[in-house]
Amino acid sequence: MATLAKDHTQLDEVAATLGIAITPLTSNIGAELSGIDLDQPLTDAAAEVIRAAWLRHKVIFFRDQDLSAESHVRLARLFGELETHPVIPSAPGYPELLIIKGEGFEITAQTFDKAQAYNKWHTDVTFRERPSIGSVLRARHIPAVGGDTIWADAAAAYRGLPDAVKERIEHLEAEHDIVRSFGHRVSDEKRAEIARDFPPVVHPVVRTHPETGERAIYVNFTFTTRILGVSEAESRELLTLLFDRIKVPEYHVRWRWTPNAIAIWDNRVTQHYAVADYWPNPRTMERVTVTGDVVAR
Ligand code: SIN
Repeated sequence: MATLAKDHTQLDEVAATLGIAITPLTSNIGAELSGIDLDQPLTDAAAEVIRAAWLRHKVIFFRDQDLSAESHVRLARLFGELETHPVIPSAPGYPELLIIKGEGFEITAQTFDKAQAYNKWHTDVTFRERPSIGSVLRARHIPAVGGDTIWADAAAAYRGLPDAVKERIEHLEAEHDIVRSFGHRVSDEKRAEIARDFPPVVHPVVRTHPETGERAIYVNFTFTTRILGVSEAESRELLTLLFDRIKVPEYHVRWRWTPNAIAIWDNRVTQHYAVADYWPNPRTMERVTVTGDVVAR
């Protein structure tokens, strides 16, 4: 798989023999795949191409995939075991199928804090000891305008750091806490429950991808609270620098959703941001999240 992912000519050729076209969307990150019906069980060869394209492009997209809940869950299982979420609700009868609803809002002086609370760059569930390796997101109800999602290539962002910063962060670790993000969205009781069930965890500031060997920034604005073993001021300074690097547009792919479009991302080397610019219309997405591994330096 990783070999196929590294040899991009071979990957494209193997995909073509199956009728699958892989169209890169930027030089760093993102590709759209066409010529495949994800509502049907996949052959081993097609599954291998999808996994290799996912490793190579970090986030892959499909359009017009009117998946049943069963097919959505089956597709996500190509990547591993599935997990539920302690706060985000799920579809009746499908505990792993998370329903992500948004209403969007205009950012004004009054709502700026809300925007900072809801629209945030993140890697999913880094508050877990074993954060998810990826997710399969399906657009269910899409507003007429707005509501794109942006993904950042955290490996390209790492490569672009000055050497002195790379050296400084090489052996550092950071704390990640669910309460930082979800604490304000839930009742006091629920906050106490998630704080008890998910005490802060520590991950390296830079991780190595277990399949591709790429190194990537592994702190995110949503869950990372501080870098350990340095002063509070240095922690803040380094985190601000790393969070800012993730925001650089050259590391991004921006996806315009259409109904039943699908995104599958590698959560180990990406961060994402759902743009809430679609008020007053609602937006509903469905996500299945794949259980992860211990984060290795
Ligand atoms: C997510 O953060 O997993 C969902 C992204 C989105 O709603 O676009």
